[in-house]
Amino acid sequence: MKTLNIQGKTGKSAIMVGERLQQLEHYILARPAVIITDHHLLNLYGKDFPRYPVITIDCGETIKTLDTVNSIYQQLVDMDADRSTVIVGIGGGIVCDITGFVASTYMRGVSFGFVASTLLAQVDASVGGKNGINFGGFKNMVGVFSQPEFVICDMYLLKSLSMRDLRCGFAEIVKHAVIADADMFDYLEKQWPRALALDNNVIEKLVHDSVVIKAGVVNRDETENGERRILNFGHTIGHAIEKITGVPHGEAVSIGMVASAAIAMRCGLLFEKDAARIEALLSQMNLPTRLSGQREAILSALLKDKKREGSEILFVLPEGIGKAVVRPLTLLQIGQLTEGLI
Ligand SMILES: NC(=O)c1ccc[n+]([C@@H]2O[C@H](COP(=O)([O-])OP(=O)(O)OC[C@H]3O[C@@H](n4cnc5c(N)ncnc54)[C@H](O)[C@@H]3O)[C@@H](O)[C@H]2O)c1
Ligand SMILES: [Zn+2]
Repeated sequence: MKTLNIQGKTGKSAIMVGERLQQLEHYILARPAVIITDHHLLNLYGKDFPRYPVITIDCGETIKTLDTVNSIYQQLVDMDADRSTVIVGIGGGIVCDITGFVASTYMRGVSFGFVASTLLAQVDASVGGKNGINFGGFKNMVGVFSQPEFVICDMYLLKSLSMRDLRCGFAEIVKHAVIADADMFDYLEKQWPRALALDNNVIEKLVHDSVVIKAGVVNRDETENGERRILNFGHTIGHAIEKITGVPHGEAVSIGMVASAAIAMRCGLLFEKDAARIEALLSQMNLPTRLSGQREAILSALLKDKKREGSEILFVLPEGIGKAVVRPLTLLQIGQLTEGLI
């Protein structure tokens, strides 16, 4: 097991990669605690939860709402949860986001931690202190920055994930390698079959290296005023694709990364062979890399991007493999640079 630390203005976070769910009690430290999880996780792993009261929510993005938050507040009040209570989310990104939001607002904020149970939650959602819910049809529109006291990344939980959910987590791992770590990208090119088979050494190393990258970026720019934006590589086009086609986030980001790499190539930032390596790796991992027939819809969805600044969108472009830059592009430029790509 390896521990990584985030020292943010909104709190400190210790991320334990390779720790087990069964050790959770040691991090609660004799305080009163409440667990928040979803029905699916409770069925699969409830027997391994320590004996604290459990609040169970439904599964799926549609429950990431104020109504769910409201119902959890009520249950916390009914349980007499007070400011000494630690709230622990056991689950994927949805459980982590809701738990973080509830815990950061209940009684003006109580301590919280996560046991991240999906690959996406381990390498992305549980790390960095962003806790949001959806509002008015917009994703993560309402939320807070606040760090979980601890995060447990238990590799054994990943074994029950669907292949599709697993692959979506790998899209974020590839993202981290492209924007920040050329050696990790080389490693992925060699080890992706063992990674997909969840070989313990390989997956633990990849989760660890991913968290190092994300935690490093967050330590330097916790509230996304600058560098943290590079974590959006593949996400501007990805979010548009997700919205229009309804494909899972990681699949949309995979297509978004390939399109952004091609834009970087057309801007003279990335060699053609490196853009091809990015596409080849994603496609070997069985992630989609292209989308056809939706160009107009995607460009018009980009117009509504909430991160748009005036007529420009801040685009993350790889500058070689292992480094990324943020460039403002107008919609006209995006239209020209994506011709024949999406
Ligand atoms: N806060 C952040 O910085 C951040 C970053 C990225 C994503 N997110 C959010 O994360 C959410 C997506 O997270 P996700 O992909 O983990 O989805 P999820 O939480 O919906 O989990 C996917 C499904 O897998 C099931 N599951 C979870 N762990 C399992 C396990 N070990 N075995 C079997 N099944 C399991 C869940 O019950 C669920 O049905 C989105 O809402 C997104 O906005 C947040
Ligand atoms: Zn993402």
